[in-house]
Order: sequence, then C-alpha cells, then structure tokens
Amino acid sequence: MTQARQHSIQVVAHRGASEDAPEHTLAAYKKAIEDGADALECDVRLTADGHLVCVHDRRVNRTSNGRGAVSALELADLATLDFGSWMENMDSEESPDWKDRSLTSVLTLERLLELVADTDRRIELAIETKHPTRWAGQVEERLLRMLARFGLDGPAPGEGPDSSPVRIMSFSARSLHRIADAAPQLPTVYLMQFVSPRLRDGRLPAGARIAGPGIRVVRNQPGYVERLHKAGHRVHVWTVNEPEDVELCVRLGVEAIITNRPKQVLSQLGRL
Ligand code: G3P
Ligand code: CA
Repeated sequence: MTQARQHSIQVVAHRGASEDAPEHTLAAYKKAIEDGADALECDVRLTADGHLVCVHDRRVNRTSNGRGAVSALELADLATLDFGSWMENMDSEESPDWKDRSLTSVLTLERLLELVADTDRRIELAIETKHPTRWAGQVEERLLRMLARFGLDGPAPGEGPDSSPVRIMSFSARSLHRIADAAPQLPTVYLMQFVSPRLRDGRLPAGARIAGPGIRVVRNQPGYVERLHKAGHRVHVWTVNEPEDVELCVRLGVEAIITNRPKQVLSQLGRL
C-alpha cells in the first residue's frame, strides 16, 4: 500500500477502465464500476444531428471500424460502427466483454447517465467538453439539459456545492465560463497540459473552480499543487497510471486521480 499522509483520494476511471476494455464503451464503464472506481471520466462531442456521444477524438477512425468526424456523422451512422474490435488483439483474458456488440457500440451520454442511475452505489461523473468552441455553446446547452433530465445538474437539495455528483471539465476556459454562467452550482475543472505564466501563482480562469493539471505538470512542478491548494482549489490530476505517479499524487495531497487503471490504483491505495 502506498505510504502517505492520510486523506481520501477519489479514483476516477479515465474513459472507463480503458486499459482493460475499449475506451468510452459500456464495457469500459461497467468494468470501472465493477473495479470499484469512485467516478467515471468521459469526453462528449456533438453529432451532426445534435446528440451528445462519448468519443475522445475528433474522428472515429482510431476507436471504431468507421471513418470521419463525429460532427459530420449522425447518431444512426455511428450506431452502425463497432467501437470494440480495434482492441481485440490485446490480451482479452480479463475483459472479454468488448467482443459483445451490445457493450461496444457508440455510447451516448444519455446511456452513460442511465448506467450510473442504475448503479446501487454513488458514482460521480467528470464530463469533459471537447472542441466546444466549434458549436458556440451548443455542447454546454445540450449537456446541461441532459443533466437536468437526470436531476444531475447540481448538488442534491440541502447539500453543499461540493457534493455535486457531476462536474464539468475542459481545456477551454470559455466552455467552463458558459457552464458557470448557466449552472453556477456545477463544479468546473480547468484542464492544463502546461501552466500559462498568468496562472503560475495558483489562480484559475474565471468560471473554473477545480484545477486539472496533467501528471507531467505535477512531476515537473510539484510546488504548483501547493500553490493551487493555497489558492483554495482542489486538484484533480490526469492521467495517472504509474505507481510512482500515484505515490507522488498521494504525497502532494491531490483530491482526485484520473487513471486508465482504476483497479490497480485502488489496490495501491489499500482500498481493495
Ligand atoms: O481527464 C482529463 C483528460 O482526459 C484530458 O485529456 O486527451 O485524455 O481528454 P484527454
Ligand atoms: Ca478526457
């Protein structure tokens, strides 16, 4: 077990348990829930006909047997594709489910929210808006409408602002600003691949509440986490797969670890 100061770190399954099952599929999210993840991370994009789907890349080429940009395809087109077989050459001993097409067709955000609603323990969601500028607010608008339908657009009545089961993440400060304007009760996470000079003191752009630095930032500038904490921000680090990086995150007292390997991280934290 990782030796470090006591505090509870949330373990977030990045694109689902994406090391063991094809990313952003029901197979990956069900595996993450079985593995004991506290939360699920997913990227959302809009299809040509306005549906929110869980796909990381702009195009479907890498993770399906189809081709083309998500934004140019309709949901019915995406539904004909197989988002699992690209991973078939990998060791399938642990997660044979990805060959089951019912678990590896395109995943809508709606279906993911249903999965979470049907789970008999609390599962949080960290939803990332991808390329939100292209759609000038439509991603955020549709996302908030969908969350409201599931009663997930903020904390439960009477609970504090930090108890929301859903948070919105983005590399785009503009996207987070839109969310904060329309739904100030929802926590927002500003994702960073590097720290811009104007944010080095631990400040975040307007509209962002939580800091989301990549693990390289944390490795190279461990003092930055302390500055973020001093500025009053929680710190959620991605994508933390190596044991020494988990150890570092624990030592620095980060609040959440986003990982492709939720089971291994939970085990390292002594929670399995
Ligand atoms: O959780 C944040 C992380 O997912 C951001 O990077 O490229 O994996 O979406 P990416
Ligand atoms: Ca992401």
